[in-house]
Amino acid sequence: MTIDVKACVFDAFGTLFNLSTPVEEIREIAGNQTDQLMTIWRRKQLEYTWLRASMNKYVPFNVVTHQALQLAMRETGLANQKLFDLLMPIYLNPSCFEEVPKLLSQLKKRDIKTAILSNGTPEMLQSGVDKTNLNNLLDEIISVDSLKTFKPNPLVYQLACDRFALDKSEILFLSSNRWDVAGAGAFGLRAVWVNQYNQEPEVLGPPPFKTIQKLSELAQLVSNLNQ
Ligand code: LAC
Repeated sequence: MTIDVKACVFDAFGTLFNLSTPVEEIREIAGNQTDQLMTIWRRKQLEYTWLRASMNKYVPFNVVTHQALQLAMRETGLANQKLFDLLMPIYLNPSCFEEVPKLLSQLKKRDIKTAILSNGTPEMLQSGVDKTNLNNLLDEIISVDSLKTFKPNPLVYQLACDRFALDKSEILFLSSNRWDVAGAGAFGLRAVWVNQYNQEPEVLGPPPFKTIQKLSELAQLVSNLNQ
């Protein structure tokens, strides 16, 4: 299938930014409950975005993240201020997956536009981009904050089309979140699932336009599609 990919738009947290390596100090406090704590925190964070979007009770993603961490700490019995103070900054100071800078450079060399489209606040996203030195490799940093709702509201994915003045069919949207891929696909973007956590496919449709295991496969995919 040949299509004309003009932009690649990326989810931020868990896709470009790696959240899965808590620092040693965190493991020292949370011990063998670290992974459980991190999993509940992320699940609850996403659940709160969906609940708040459907209740029409938006608060910025840093507040959602804070509230989800409170709940996760309660559920694991790890209510500890030091742990809280170590975990919250992860969303402001993430690392990026190692292949990301090279991939974005490859896309830019081919005149493909690049962007982040995320639930994160503009401040969180800018901080992450600064920390990972991706400023010169991204054309746009798009936050849901201007809409006061969260993914997978179709209006969020429309932001990518509006920002680049492109048709849905010209944008590849990439996320490692299965539900985000379903949301973007339901809106009409060409949604690529980056299955870097080796998960089972989502049952909720539509299925991904393509699935890759790692972001490093994207440059080849774009070459194949744009032939
Ligand atoms: C984001 C979350 C969903 O960056 O990962 O939008």
